[in-house]
Amino acid sequence: RGTTKVNERGFIEIGGVSTETLKEAYGTPLFVYDVKDIRDRANEFHDAFKNQSVSYQIAYASKAFSCIAMIELANELELSLDVCSGGELYTALEAGFPVERIHFHGNNKTPDELEMAVTHKIGCIVVDNFTELSWLMALTESSKQQMDVLIRITPGVEAHTHEYISTGQEDSKFGFDLNSAQADKAIDMITSHEFLTLQGVHSHIGSQIFRAEGFEEAVKEIYASIEGWVNKFDYYPNVLNVGGGFGIRYTENDEPLPLSTYIDKMVEAAKKESNRLNKPLPEFWIEPGRALVGEAGTTLYTLGTRKEIPDVRTYVSVDGGMTDNIRPALYQAEYSATLANRAHAEPEEVVSIAGKCCESGDMLIWDINLPKIEQGDILAVFSTGAYGYSMANNYNRILRPAVVFVEDGEHECVIEREQFEDLTRRENRYSKIMLPEK
Ligand code: LLP
Repeated sequence: RGTTKVNERGFIEIGGVSTETLKEAYGTPLFVYDVKDIRDRANEFHDAFKNQSVSYQIAYASKAFSCIAMIELANELELSLDVCSGGELYTALEAGFPVERIHFHGNNKTPDELEMAVTHKIGCIVVDNFTELSWLMALTESSKQQMDVLIRITPGVEAHTHEYISTGQEDSKFGFDLNSAQADKAIDMITSHEFLTLQGVHSHIGSQIFRAEGFEEAVKEIYASIEGWVNKFDYYPNVLNVGGGFGIRYTENDEPLPLSTYIDKMVEAAKKESNRLNKPLPEFWIEPGRALVGEAGTTLYTLGTRKEIPDVRTYVSVDGGMTDNIRPALYQAEYSATLANRAHAEPEEVVSIAGKCCESGDMLIWDINLPKIEQGDILAVFSTGAYGYSMANNYNRILRPAVVFVEDGEHECVIEREQFEDLTRRENRYSKIMLPEK
């Protein structure tokens, strides 16, 4: 994958940097990002759109992994940015990301968050529901500031993915319902509003999708609505945002499509539909998170304790777990891994990799075939670049790992490892506690 290979000493090397060096310099657990891999993915998306000769924006869904360095990289790669909270917006602003390419998402943007977006004149707000719309109307009226918006709809397309990460179905907390004419009402309200400009329509059908047809169907469904809007309000969108969700490889069972396949399918579907309506092709926006950073990330752990239950199972524990990767516990997500310090060694035993949290569900990988493990071995778990660090937490007061970018044989820490002092930094003593005299 990417620039990952095995060096002559049997160590895995990422971006030309040995995992031996990385462990020595930063300790474990450690997130390592292969920057070249992220560049290649971004270029693959750019090329796919350029081959179709259409206008487009690729917005990096920063929920997958956000930090200053990552946002700067997204900027360098000429990506736009999808943020879905004040915190993500703040990070983007701190990183100096061009505000006109920031798109704001979320089903409960607070009035404060909306104000932050309007004050900073970000590119676009993806309006999710009527409450938000009324807040946004009031806000732009009182500040007399114009704002571009998209409306998010739920196209009723099954994404064929885990139900927790599937969002396009009708019964969803996201977006305006299509069947009850709520989208129609929202369009009417926005297009007749003095300060809001309806640039277009948004849908996101889900995540970790391997069927390009899902996007094709979503485009068709959206166009069925657009046709109604053309007839009812003479409204035709400038922008068609089909969201993110392009699947990646976690294990050998995953067979991701070339990114261009998704783009070709959705663009061709839209070409057909817009021809049918005799309308121009809208600008395409997509919002990949996982597909840009997922496979670029590898987590390094140190293997620690071992418990053998004869004839049942061997547990080997790592120095992290659901605090840095909650996906197996949350979605039964599967990962592949290898011993990073003896990558040439033949597999010899089947073990299950446990995290160190006080929680039976804190398992990273069940039943993986690895070389005979010794304490202190480094385990590299692959494809942890998306929704790993971004969902990291301090359960059991475990410290969040450091994050390192590697490229061309060089390594730089972009997020420092959390320290014990960070755990209590924002804590106050409670004044009504009378401690017993010593
Ligand atoms: N756009 C919208 C509106 C979204 O809600 C999402 C993801 C994306 C784009 C990016 O999707 P991606 O290309 O990364 O699949 N924590 C879960 C994923 C939740 C995704 C939420 N929304 C996981 O670890 O699988």
